[in-house]
Amino acid sequence: MQYAKIIGWGKCTPPATLSNEDISTVVDTTDEWISTRTGIKSRRVSHVGTGELATVAAKRALDCAGIAGEDIDLVLLATCTPSTLVANTASYVQQQIGATGAAACDVNAACSGFLYALQNATAQIRAGMVKRAVVIAAERMLWHVNWAKRDSAVLFGDGAGAVVLEASSEEFGLLATKTGCDSEDREILHIRNFGTDIDKHDSAQPSDILFQGKDIFKRAVKGMSEACDDVLSQANLALEDIDMLIPHQANLRIIQAIAKQLQLNDDKVMVNIQHYGNTSAATIPIALCEALEQGKIKPHSHIMSAAFGAGLTWAASYIKWGERVTPIIESKAELPECKQTGLEIMADAIKYCQ
Ligand code: UT7
Repeated sequence: MQYAKIIGWGKCTPPATLSNEDISTVVDTTDEWISTRTGIKSRRVSHVGTGELATVAAKRALDCAGIAGEDIDLVLLATCTPSTLVANTASYVQQQIGATGAAACDVNAACSGFLYALQNATAQIRAGMVKRAVVIAAERMLWHVNWAKRDSAVLFGDGAGAVVLEASSEEFGLLATKTGCDSEDREILHIRNFGTDIDKHDSAQPSDILFQGKDIFKRAVKGMSEACDDVLSQANLALEDIDMLIPHQANLRIIQAIAKQLQLNDDKVMVNIQHYGNTSAATIPIALCEALEQGKIKPHSHIMSAAFGAGLTWAASYIKWGERVTPIIESKAELPECKQTGLEIMADAIKYCQ
């Protein structure tokens, strides 16, 4: 039997920050409201494109694995904020990491995108179609924000994370998964003024994240908890067997409600939403990297992950970690220097929306 072991991981969180106090100078909100309703204190703002964020995360994951881009057969990039749609942004990453012989494809399942892409790459490796894959999630969610609207402006951030998978006879990697989509309710979370549905001859309008927050909140808790139960039973595991839950980071209260539903103690739940906000598909690989950096993932840890997003897509995954929890090579890959503050980077976008 062939498995798809995770042999490398890396994240790229751009340096400029936008604190709750910064946002309260733009829209009618307060640090107190954002902190208590969402758990978010700050988020990162990218001074570069999604493709560059993805490239740095991928290079760091490759160094961590101790392999070169040319060893990669497949580049999958989960994103709903691609730098370019055509050519796809994965092809930019393929070029930048030197994965000359690799297939390259973008995957859009919004916030569930990383787990969808991980499932896809794992299946290709397990079927013997490819030997090594890099699975990336990279987002510039602040690009979509309408700065005239306080309900969405406070929630999102930019960032990227990646893992490298390799065919292995050892039973590690993604071992059970469940993905789905409740399309009848796709309208309760969507982005307006983006895509070919808009009239391109009409005057341009800012893109706009529209959602029914309370409804999504309830569905996210139910959907992710049920998907976790499904994956546990597929893997023939009990909740006590899980060492770490890495949930999508959309709202601290959603994470706490899932933990309560699954009866998991706080020390088994990875939370970093306070630093990054909701980076859509990128939240899970960024949180995975930080769990490793913080020593929360040990050799052979049993990891559960779950996500929920526009579509309405949802996913849960059970990953059995391998031996290694430290990088083979400390990566030197870096973004170009950023000389602006978060508010300075966003200044034109804010002016455009107001
Ligand atoms: O992934 C895409 C989007 N993510 C989600 O939708 C995640 C799921 N939902 C949530 O995380 C939460 O529903 C939110 C954080 C979006 C909202 O929290 P809530 O506890 O459901 O608040 P609410 O929408 O019921 O609004 C409560 C009040 C309202 O005022 P009134 O009607 O009670 O006077 C809002 O107008 O809070 C007001 N409000 C704000 N006040 C200050 C909404 N946004 C803000 C804000 N600052 N940024």
